[in-house]
Amino acid sequence: MNPTASIREVAAAARVSVGTVSNVLNRPAVVSPATRDRVLAAIEELGFVRNESARQLRSGTARTIGLVVLDVGNPFFTDVARGVEDSATEAGHVVILCNSDESSARESRYLDLLTEQRAHAVLITPVGDSLDPVRRLQRRGVSVVLLDHPTASKDVCSVSVDDVIGGDLATTHLLAGGHEELVMVTGPESIRQCADRLAGARRALERAGRPAEKLRTIEVPALNVASGQRAAEQLLAGPTLPDGVFCANDLLALGLLQVLMRAGVRVPEDVALVGYDDIDFAAAAAVPLTSVRQPRYLIGRTAADLVIAETLAPKQHTHQHTVFTPELVVRDSSHPRRNGAAVTPR
Ligand code: RIB
Repeated sequence: MNPTASIREVAAAARVSVGTVSNVLNRPAVVSPATRDRVLAAIEELGFVRNESARQLRSGTARTIGLVVLDVGNPFFTDVARGVEDSATEAGHVVILCNSDESSARESRYLDLLTEQRAHAVLITPVGDSLDPVRRLQRRGVSVVLLDHPTASKDVCSVSVDDVIGGDLATTHLLAGGHEELVMVTGPESIRQCADRLAGARRALERAGRPAEKLRTIEVPALNVASGQRAAEQLLAGPTLPDGVFCANDLLALGLLQVLMRAGVRVPEDVALVGYDDIDFAAAAAVPLTSVRQPRYLIGRTAADLVIAETLAPKQHTHQHTVFTPELVVRDSSHPRRNGAAVTPR
């Protein structure tokens, strides 16, 4: 393949005009079979690759959607991406998946790349709270929808889940099961999802008439399995274990579960555990994980539908904010506590 071969070289090799080559590529029915075969042979011989972005630009049918997620290693985002891709494919669009890895610098580089690739739409879970990157894209004529990121802004659509409700559900469930001494393993409050889940947990304590001190927090640098393992080691190093742990996502909970079980701690008998997202691995865990379910596929599908609608009628489009309500899925990891005894690590 010779991606640098030009359409002019193909035309010369097939002894036809550039327009005839373009017709063979875009409207083959208007070209005679003999001429079409001669052009296709020249394309094959030269290894010509059409410049789809340039074609889309000329025809005004740019069909690329950028999807920028925080952590492509987190099944939450791959489930969201599935919803995006199904919607985009049905509408004749292609998706370019970008992983910001929670880095503003990487996010910025990807947004520049998507602009160069003439993406006409971008779905993004921003690394921070600033909408400046979104504004820059919009000024370049790119339609944007915020994914898993609520906003009150009137000039951009968003699709998210009410994470305050989610944190409240998880904590209320632990309290209702007799788990009094609680720990929340969460990321920095600069990550909006973590801040809202923690706020929900504190709201649940307050409503139950419990002092805020009943909820300790362990802050981790990243919401992944390794951070959950470190958090478990921190708990095991303490004087007593908490009655219950609420993790800001399932990856943290799965890492924590693994280390606690290896240390001989029984879940839920000694420590009840609740995660967040309800990824497929939650139900398949060694102790099936209670988790706050986010409608991952629907989040992605809804966001893609919104941004495609905007690209089709930008002037008529009215920005909207879709906020889904999470639900608690109760499994073995959070059975009600049998008695109030504190547990010291073995
Ligand atoms: O990216 C961290 C978390 O935020 C994910 O696990 C998911 O819960 C998202 O909302």
